[in-house]
Amino acid sequence: MKLSLALLLAPLAAAAPAVETRQAAQSIDALFKAKGKEFFGTCTDQRLLQSGRNAAIIEANFGQVTPENSMKWESINPQRGTYSWGQADYLVNWATARNKTIRGHTFVWHSQLAGWVRNIYNRDELTRVIQDHITTVMTRYKGKIYHWDVVNEMFNEDGSIRSSVFSNVLREDFVGIAFRAARAADPWAKLYINDYNLDSPNYAKVTRGMVDHVRRWLQQGIPIDGIGTQGHLQAGQGNGLAQAIRVLASSGVKEVAVTELDIQNGSNGNDYTAVVRGCLDEPKCVAITVWGVRDNDSWRPQGNPLLFDSNYNPKANYNAIVQLLSR
Ligand SMILES: *[C@@H]1O[C@H](CO)[C@@H](O)[C@H](O)[C@H]1NC(C)=O
Ligand SMILES: *[C@@H]1O[C@H](CO)[C@@H](O)[C@H](O)[C@H]1NC(C)=O
Ligand SMILES: *[C@@H]1O[C@H](CO)[C@@H](O)[C@H](O)[C@H]1NC(C)=O
Repeated sequence: MKLSLALLLAPLAAAAPAVETRQAAQSIDALFKAKGKEFFGTCTDQRLLQSGRNAAIIEANFGQVTPENSMKWESINPQRGTYSWGQADYLVNWATARNKTIRGHTFVWHSQLAGWVRNIYNRDELTRVIQDHITTVMTRYKGKIYHWDVVNEMFNEDGSIRSSVFSNVLREDFVGIAFRAARAADPWAKLYINDYNLDSPNYAKVTRGMVDHVRRWLQQGIPIDGIGTQGHLQAGQGNGLAQAIRVLASSGVKEVAVTELDIQNGSNGNDYTAVVRGCLDEPKCVAITVWGVRDNDSWRPQGNPLLFDSNYNPKANYNAIVQLLSR
């Protein structure tokens, strides 16, 4: 009985490596690190980590996670004095147990903001609220979250500062308030200013917006470590983003990262490889994060923007990145 059971199980054991958790043949994270970069990551959250093959793919193929929603203000601090840690804790614990780097996302943002913050009209009160929020969240995860998007999407397309409760009450002072609170809460973390449509080198939001402002804020001693360019692209925009990375780096900031990359209707691989090459070519570009694993879980699923198809198979875009990084 014992012997025949062993014989029965032997072929199963031998077959096991074929179904191991590696989901694409090679990890783009490992290949990117071999080129001297810090990580190639993706966004996720508890629901996705607990469904389908997301966790297995992230474990095998990516080196970093960003919480897609769970750390946004309305999610983590929905009422004054009330924090809702469950989903954010889940992601941090999952990543920490697997040695995955974490990008924290995000503190000062006009969107997905808790309603109670929108209704503050007093300068001192809003200052304290920003400081308390950042200090509370960063202290909980101190030493575990390597990058923080401290300020998100604060520029208009023409490079001016967007109207929000933060700019309306504090003018641009909210930037220094937020970054200084973040530096004090966890001096180890790299502090980012993040925005979208920074996809073309001469675009006003890149030059008059991000670059001019960051240069001035660095001169004022505001502790900004990095610029994040989200990279929500359409086919044909890969080269533009690659050139914009250099312009963003020229602001004097220490580092740049591509933080939310997805490319609609760009399935021939050229746009993804253009972005990856752009990051390889700029020494200050440290990392790339794509915004999701599987096409139909994307926040904008039209045009199949991600690296894995809806059945979790690695796509031509994934393989094109592997090829580029294997050279
Ligand atoms: C964890 O990952 C870092 C790179 O992100 C690497 O340097 C380190 O060796 C890893 N540690 C373990 C225990 O795998
Ligand atoms: C991208 O492709 C989808 C269909 O796959 C289409 O609905 C959408 O309009 C396209 N977007 C652009 C900007 O071409
Ligand atoms: C994604 O596609 C798969 C495979 O077709 C399907 O089973 C699943 O329900 C889809 N999920 C979403 C969120 O559309």
